[in-house]
Amino acid sequence: MISENSFLVDCQERIEEILLENLPQIDRLPVELHQAMHYSVMAPGKRIRPLLVYAAGHALGASVDDLDEQACALEYIHAYSLIHDDLPAMDDDELRRGRPTCHVKFGEAMAILAGDALQSLAFETLGRCKASDSKTVRMISVLANASGSHGMAGGQAIDLASTGESLTIPELENLHILKTGALIRASVLLGAISASEDEEKINLLDHYAKCVGLAFQIVDDILDVTSDTETLGKTQGKDAAQEKTTYPSLLGLSESREKARQLCQDALKSIEVMGDAASPLRAIGLSILSRTS
Ligand code: IPE
Ligand code: IPE
Ligand code: MG
Ligand code: MG
Ligand code: MG
Repeated sequence: MISENSFLVDCQERIEEILLENLPQIDRLPVELHQAMHYSVMAPGKRIRPLLVYAAGHALGASVDDLDEQACALEYIHAYSLIHDDLPAMDDDELRRGRPTCHVKFGEAMAILAGDALQSLAFETLGRCKASDSKTVRMISVLANASGSHGMAGGQAIDLASTGESLTIPELENLHILKTGALIRASVLLGAISASEDEEKINLLDHYAKCVGLAFQIVDDILDVTSDTETLGKTQGKDAAQEKTTYPSLLGLSESREKARQLCQDALKSIEVMGDAASPLRAIGLSILSRTS
C-alpha cells in the first residue's frame, strides 16, 4: 500500500509542490487559460505516474532531486489526456477528480487549449531536467512516443473508433496498452533512464511497467462497474452507458480481477532481483490491485 511506504508518502507531498512550481503563474495573461491549467493539474489525483517515476529511479539508485521534472512532465501529460478524454467529442464526462470537468467549468475551447498548453509545458519542463543532454533527449523521445499516435493518442483514437463495436480480447488488450499503458510505461522508463545506463535493468523495469500499465486499465474498467461515483470522483457506469468494450464486458468481473492479479504478480517477479530498493515499486504494484478509486 502506498500509504504504508514512507518513500512514496514523501514523494506524494513533494510532487504537489513541484507541479505547482512548474505551472505558469495563475494571474499572468491569459488568466483564464492559466486558471484552467491549474484547475485540472492541481485537482486531487492519485499521482501514480509521478510516483512511478520516483520509484523506478529509486530502484536503480537515483535521488528524488534528480527526478522532479520527469515526474512533473508525466503528470502534465496525464492531466492533458484527462481534460481531452472528458470533452463532449470524446467521453463527454462532467465529473473528474470529484469536481466539474475542465470544459464544464471553463468552456470547451478553453479546455482544449489547457490540454494543448499542458502537453507543451510537459516537454518544456522535461527539457529542464537535471540529467545529461543525451539522457534528456532520450527521455523526450520516449515521452513523445508514448503520448502520440503510437501511444496514448493512438489508443484514444482506437477507443473512439471501437465504441459501440465488439472487440476481441487481443484488440482490447492493444487498446489498453496504448491508451493507458504507454504513459505508465514512459513513467517507469524515465525514472530508469535517469538513474542508470544498465539496459538489462532498464528492461526489467520496462517489463514491470508493461504489466502494471495493462493491469491499471483493467482495474479502471472493473471499478467503473463496481464502485460508485463519489468514491471514484468520476461518473460510475460510463463504460456500459457508452457501449465501450471493457475487460468486465468481455471476461466478466472475476476473470478480469484474476487477469489483473496475474499481471501484477508478473510485474513484481521481474523486480525481485532489485531487493529493498524496489519496495516502492512493489507497493505501487500491490496498490493497483487494491485501489478503490
Ligand atoms: C484515469 O487515471 C484515467 C486512466 C488512464 C485510467 P487515474 O486513475 O490515474 O486518474 P487520477 O490521476 O488519479 O485522477
Ligand atoms: C482514459 O481511459 C485514458 C486516457 C485518459 C488516456 P478512460 O476513459 O477509461 O478513463 P476514465 O475512466 O475516464 O478516467
Ligand atoms: Mg476514455
Ligand atoms: Mg473517460
Ligand atoms: Mg475508465
